[in-house]
Parts: sequence; C-alpha cells; structure tokens
Amino acid sequence: MAQHLAFGISVLLLAIASSYFIQQFFKCPVEHRSNSEKVAERTSWLCSGNVSTDRVCRFKNLCYSSRLDKFVAIGVSSTEEKSLMKSELGEALSLTSVVDMKYTCDIVSSSASAIQNGKVKIKFMDGKYLIFARFVEGNLGHFIHDEMIPIYQTLFLHHKAWNPGAITLMLFDRGDVGTFRDLYSTFTDNPILQKVDLSFEEDNTITCFEDAIVGLSKETVWFKYDFVSPEGPVMNTTATWEHINNFTEHVRARLAIYPNCNGDDFGIIFRRKTNRIIVNEDEIIRAISEEFGLKIIATSLEENSLTDLIEKASCAKLMIGVHGALLMLMIFLQPQSVVLELFPYGIIPDYKSQYKTLASLPGSNIEYVRWRNMDETNTVTHPENERYFGGIAHLQKETQNKIIESSEVSPKKRLSNPEWRFRLYQDTIVDIPAITKLLGGTYLRKGTQTRKDQSRFFDLIGSVYVFTVRAVKQLMSKTSPNSQLNTNRKRALKTTVITYGN
Ligand SMILES: *[C@@H]1O[C@H](CO)[C@@H](O)[C@H](O)[C@H]1NC(C)=O
Ligand SMILES: *[C@@H]1O[C@H](CO)[C@@H](O)[C@H](O)[C@H]1NC(C)=O
Ligand SMILES: *[C@@H]1O[C@H](CO)[C@@H](O)[C@H](O)[C@H]1NC(C)=O
Repeated sequence: MAQHLAFGISVLLLAIASSYFIQQFFKCPVEHRSNSEKVAERTSWLCSGNVSTDRVCRFKNLCYSSRLDKFVAIGVSSTEEKSLMKSELGEALSLTSVVDMKYTCDIVSSSASAIQNGKVKIKFMDGKYLIFARFVEGNLGHFIHDEMIPIYQTLFLHHKAWNPGAITLMLFDRGDVGTFRDLYSTFTDNPILQKVDLSFEEDNTITCFEDAIVGLSKETVWFKYDFVSPEGPVMNTTATWEHINNFTEHVRARLAIYPNCNGDDFGIIFRRKTNRIIVNEDEIIRAISEEFGLKIIATSLEENSLTDLIEKASCAKLMIGVHGALLMLMIFLQPQSVVLELFPYGIIPDYKSQYKTLASLPGSNIEYVRWRNMDETNTVTHPENERYFGGIAHLQKETQNKIIESSEVSPKKRLSNPEWRFRLYQDTIVDIPAITKLLGGTYLRKGTQTRKDQSRFFDLIGSVYVFTVRAVKQLMSKTSPNSQLNTNRKRALKTTVITYGN
C-alpha cells in the first residue's frame, strides 16, 4: 500500500464485490496472475520531464482498450479531474524516445461505475511493465540509440537496480519482436509482450496494468531524425558517456561478456556483403597492419553473433566502417580507441553525424576521424538495384542522368529521395594513403601503440580472410519499406476525453 501512495495521488479503492469480478477474468497471454482486489483502483501516475517534449509517466492501474486503441484512466470522471489529467499527461502518451516523432497513444478517462456495473470487463496484469514503441525495426544503430539506451535509462530512473525477473517489456507497435531479442533479454527474463497480445474476442474487455511506465526517457538521446528539421545532433543533449558506460556495463554483465583485452592489440573493420562494399578492404587491412602494427579483424552481422561483435568491440583499438548501423558498436570501445567512418561519394558527412556526435559527447575518450570519397572514379554505382537499395532504373531517363551527374546529394528529404539512396548504396574504393595519414594523427600514432614485427602481422591477417558468404539479411537498412510503423509514426492523435461505457 505504501508503494501505491508513493505515486503521489490519492488512490481510491472502490467497494466492489471481488467475487463478481473473478468470473470476468480472462487468461493472460503469459503467466501473470489475476488479482481481483486491485482491479478497480483509480488510475494514478507520477511523471518526470516536460509534457510537450520528454515526459515519461509511471502509472498504477493504467488500462488499455484494444477496441478503442487507447489507454483508459479509471476513475477520472469529474471535469476537474479530467482537466488535471490532461495538464499532467499532455495531449497523449508518447511511446518512443525519438525527438519530434509523434508516435503516441491517446489516453481517455473512464468513470469507475462503468466497471462497477459490469459493462467493461477487466483483465488485470500483475507486475511491472515498460510500454514503448519502436521507430525503425531491424537496424542495430537505431535499436541501440532509439531503444536500448533509453530503455536502460528509463528503468534506471524509475527502478534503479531492478530485478530482470520483475520487469516485462511490452512493444506497443505492430511489428515483430525482431532480430535483436538477445538485447531485450538484458532487461528482462520475461517473454516480450506485444500490443496484439492485448486484443480479445470480447471487445468490451480492457487490460489493466498494476504498474506500468509508458514511453522512454529522452535523457540519453543525442541524435534526431528529420521529422521537423534536418537530421542532426540534439541541441543541448543531456547524454553523456557516463550514461553510455553504465549501459554497456549492464549489457556486458547480463550477456556474461567479460572481455579479456590482454592479448595482442587489434582493430575491427565492418564488412558489408551486398552493398556499400569497401572494394579494397584487403588492401586496407594490409596497409594498416604495416603502418600501425595492428591486426585488423573483419566482422559482420552475417558472420558474427551480436555477443561476439560486442566482445570484439570491447577490446578493439580501432573500428573502421562505411557509414552504417554497426558503427553504433563504438559505444563498447575502450577509452583511447579510434573510429574511422567512411562515406561514399556524394554523401555529405555532416548530415549523417550520429557517430561523430556520439564521439564528442561529454566524457568521451574515443577519437573519431572520417574520410569521404571525393573521387568519382573510385565509386561503383548500382543503378540496377531494387529501388530500396538505391536503384534508379524505374525513373525517367532524364532524372536518372541528373542523379548520375550530380556530385553531392541535397540534404533535404533524404529518405524519400532516390538520389540519396543511390549514393548511399554505392561501393567504394578507399584512398589508402589518405586514411593512413588520417589515422596517423590519432591515438594509434601517439605512442599508445607500439610498432611490432610486421612479418608477424602478415601471418595474422592471412587468417582473417576465411569467411563464407551467407544469405544476407537486410539488417542494416535505414527504414523498413512496408512497415506499419511508417504509417503509425505519422499519426498525431489528439486527446479526446470521453467517458467510457457510461
Ligand atoms: C517545455 O517544452 C516546450 C516546448 O519545447 C517549451 O516551450 C517549454 O518552455 C518547456 N517547459 C519547461 C518547463 O521546460
Ligand atoms: C542550448 O543551450 C544554449 C545555451 O544554454 C541556448 O542558448 C540554446 O537556446 C539551447 N538550444 C536549445 C535548442 O534548447
Ligand atoms: C551511472 O551508474 C551509477 C551507479 O549506478 C549511478 O550512480 C549514476 O548516477 C549513473 N549515471 C547516470 C548518468 O545515470
């Protein structure tokens, strides 16, 4: 009871014969016990952050109606209560951490009498929930920045050291649980629930959560996408490397990754198999080994498990990749490591600055350098690709020519712009003297590395090349082409305070 009062709002228990409700319960999708004593409590909440920008609220007995696709606050019925609710919770509850993204769920109020007179049936979910939605599915970079670190921070803010057995994550979008289940398991031992688990045949049933946080903290978000203004760093972000280090420590501990970095120093290069390929990757590996005495290991999502990638990133001195999602793994690097991001021809690095921004957050001890291909003869274009991967064959000849002739993609409307995709999915021949020079100005040269016997490294790199090509999943794509999310994210529902069932 003391815990309930901590929510700061008076909790009104309604006098309801619990025996009546017991018959009304439906089986939960997972093993959450029903608790008839609690179902009719008034919904209460405690919020942090600014209503219009970064509000995250934790609720006691918040309900959800699948039929209305709205949250329902129980026992909020007078005009005063409704207006208080509106001022404290805002227009609707934001479900993501993504800046400027209007992905919300309305919250409506219900008098308690609707429940009392049996018009509404309740399925009660015991325990602690975190309810949120995703922005881009299946992209590791988005996953870590938009979801994983914010989930960690939200749970840290509300539950401090939580017990993973006690938290259930609930994905409030219509996508699949997706590719990166392993990382969800760092937060919870329970199955991941989805919105679809809350729909019932009898559509007058609502689901009530004993204790639920809705939405994700924006405290750790450092990059915003172009919903309102061009993509770029979040101004005055509160994100720091202390947040990031806390998160990565948590992930390593939960995945039982205890890197032993005492062996030979090495770097990693991210290898893409089907697009945005580094044509002369082998030569880069050789040149860096010669120049800096550093063994370079080629890795990819197809060939390495996520755990393996995290383990490698946790000891690597250097991380090299063409702009793409895997570079987000730089959060796992040790201090005094170096990141080299490569940009294909025509792409302006300043408009894709999530990794540069990350490396410059307070507390960073990562050195970031980037190289952009300015030489058209060093690019391999793929006009014949599917459109999603930058193909332009479907366009009129004149438009195709314009795209092929342009040397720089306009920063405007990038995602829907075929020219942007055309350039992003080029393969690149990297200028090796240029990148060795760049890297020569970093920690790699500043005495933290010692030049080692070069012949030894030639032996080592020889072993690096043995890889098999597997069917490639499009894990690193920017957006899912036909995702329900794309429709949902445009929704900006207004709050309509209605009285449910009465
Ligand atoms: C909340 O955010 C809005 C919109 O950004 C801003 O106008 C307002 O001043 C903020 N309020 C507080 C208390 O920070
Ligand atoms: C960021 O902080 C600076 C200095 O405190 C302030 O002038 C500026 O308005 C802030 N920008 C945003 C977008 O909040
Ligand atoms: C990082 O974790 C420590 C230990 O739990 C905590 O005291 C600190 O406040 C956390 N830092 C941030 C920025 O959340």
